[in-house]
Amino acid sequence: MEFIEPKIDEYVLAHSEDEPLVLKELTRETWLKAINPRMLAGHLQGRTLSMLCRMIQPKVVLEIGTFTGYSAICLAEGLAENGKLITIDINEELENFAKKYFVKAGLENAIEQRIGDATKIIPEINEELDLVFIDADKANYANYYDMVLPMLKTGGYIIADNVLWSGKILEDYEKCDVDTKALIDFNKKVQEDDSVQNVLFPIRDGIQLIRKK
Ligand SMILES: C[S@@+](CC[C@H](N)C(=O)[O-])C[C@H]1O[C@@H](n2cnc3c(N)ncnc32)[C@H](O)[C@@H]1O
Repeated sequence: MEFIEPKIDEYVLAHSEDEPLVLKELTRETWLKAINPRMLAGHLQGRTLSMLCRMIQPKVVLEIGTFTGYSAICLAEGLAENGKLITIDINEELENFAKKYFVKAGLENAIEQRIGDATKIIPEINEELDLVFIDADKANYANYYDMVLPMLKTGGYIIADNVLWSGKILEDYEKCDVDTKALIDFNKKVQEDDSVQNVLFPIRDGIQLIRKK
């Protein structure tokens, strides 16, 4: 589902920072070799993540859902000096794919890859987080939120992707599939949580931007 008219979308991209070459190469190889290449963040969302991160200048970022590394590179562009990004993915087959591009982007020392189920790995992370990007299995969004909120410093941010789920969040809840229900529940949970401030950006498939009070 297109949220923006295609011609406006074209104009938006033509008047936003271009993608770095390394991300164009990563995109090409993802479409050639990976299953579900559409999962990759892409130009507009990637530049949005990069810009948000440059504004926040986080020391420690946690990303849940590496895939081929596109969003990890965008986020790492905005790290504070000597900052680091920990990125988790359950799919070990993509580890070397993403690593190759972290090296190409000159970010191999800033990005730490963890392979495995994020619900198991997150409790092992002993860091105060400045920013978390949630972009993995939708059924666990609310769990990830509960797990990372206590690890997030006051004034830290959570960015959650795909919260509009191609518009399916408007469908009759009882008739929705498991992932859609999980996203509806997640958006409701965030909206009702007095410990955070949030805004839902209708960028691409929807981004919840959440700040811990
Ligand atoms: C939408 S893709 C991430 C896209 C990536 N952030 C980007 O923009 O390029 C979702 C990823 O989450 C991973 N994933 C799914 N369930 C997971 C889990 N329980 N723990 C860790 N990763 C998981 C998948 O293997 C997949 O690579």
